[in-house]
Amino acid sequence: MTRRALSSTPRRVEAARALTLAGLMMLAAHGIARAETTGPASATVCEGCHGLHGEGNAPAGIPRLAGQSAEYLSKQLEDYASGDRANPVMQNFAKALSHADIEAVATYFSTADAPRTVIPSTASVPQLALGRRLARQGSEAKRVQACDSCHGPDGIGVLHAAPYLAGQSVQYLTSALTSFQLRTRKNDPGKLMTSVAGQLSASDIAAAAAYFSSLPTGTP
Ligand code: HEC
Ligand code: HEC
Repeated sequence: MTRRALSSTPRRVEAARALTLAGLMMLAAHGIARAETTGPASATVCEGCHGLHGEGNAPAGIPRLAGQSAEYLSKQLEDYASGDRANPVMQNFAKALSHADIEAVATYFSTADAPRTVIPSTASVPQLALGRRLARQGSEAKRVQACDSCHGPDGIGVLHAAPYLAGQSVQYLTSALTSFQLRTRKNDPGKLMTSVAGQLSASDIAAAAAYFSSLPTGTP
């Protein structure tokens, strides 16, 4: 990543992500060398970052894929490939996949059985309470609908509608919400998420991320 490329990126968030690219590539290379995949050949490279069973890598901000619907996963991969969802790391990998590969990896990760983990939360009690309130009731003052009204009870996801949030890492949830807010991610149908995230403060985002990551993993 050159200095010029970095300074031309619009947001600090994107720059910070780009800086982790080298580290992520090393993870991917490790995955290829290991070649222990039990899924389609095209999934081997993914497992280097997303884990052997799609469990994700929380500290690296790599999302959990296991149990997310095949429909949602393939939409994201098509969006990365077309550029509708911008991310330098994922766009490269998605572009290398044929439509058939996309279907195969999406089906594989949607049925992958990664351990259901509850990550002990470091969030404060009031923070988790705010997260729970946003999830279950939303905020009338901010005209934000309850997250669970789209994402399902306790954020477990709703088939054909919205992905699960439960058990996804704080790091990834925060990053996803922030990118909807900054509109660096705008591949949401009907602008549902960009408008929700646009109403949230940084502390609402932190609270929602902490709350959903503290719940047992969802499988819609
Ligand atoms: C070098 C590490 C790396 C590799 C290899 C990689 N990914 Fe990713 N993946 C990421 C990161 C980081 C994100 C979050 C990007 C963002 O914020 O948009 C991500 C996001 C995703 C998402 C979006 C998930 C969501 O909840 O919206 C999908 C789907 C995905 N990857 C699938 C794959 C598949 C399939 C492969 C293999 C073909 C793959 N990834 C390879 C790092 C990687
Ligand atoms: C009106 C419906 C709706 C509401 C309300 C809603 N969401 Fe969403 N959300 C969606 C949809 C649809 C997507 C998937 C967008 C796509 O296909 O790219 C999404 C995606 C997300 C993602 C990205 C997940 C991933 O794996 O990348 C996060 C995080 C998220 N929503 C958090 C929230 C939070 C927190 C709230 C409440 C404050 C909320 N959402 C309220 C519909 C909604």
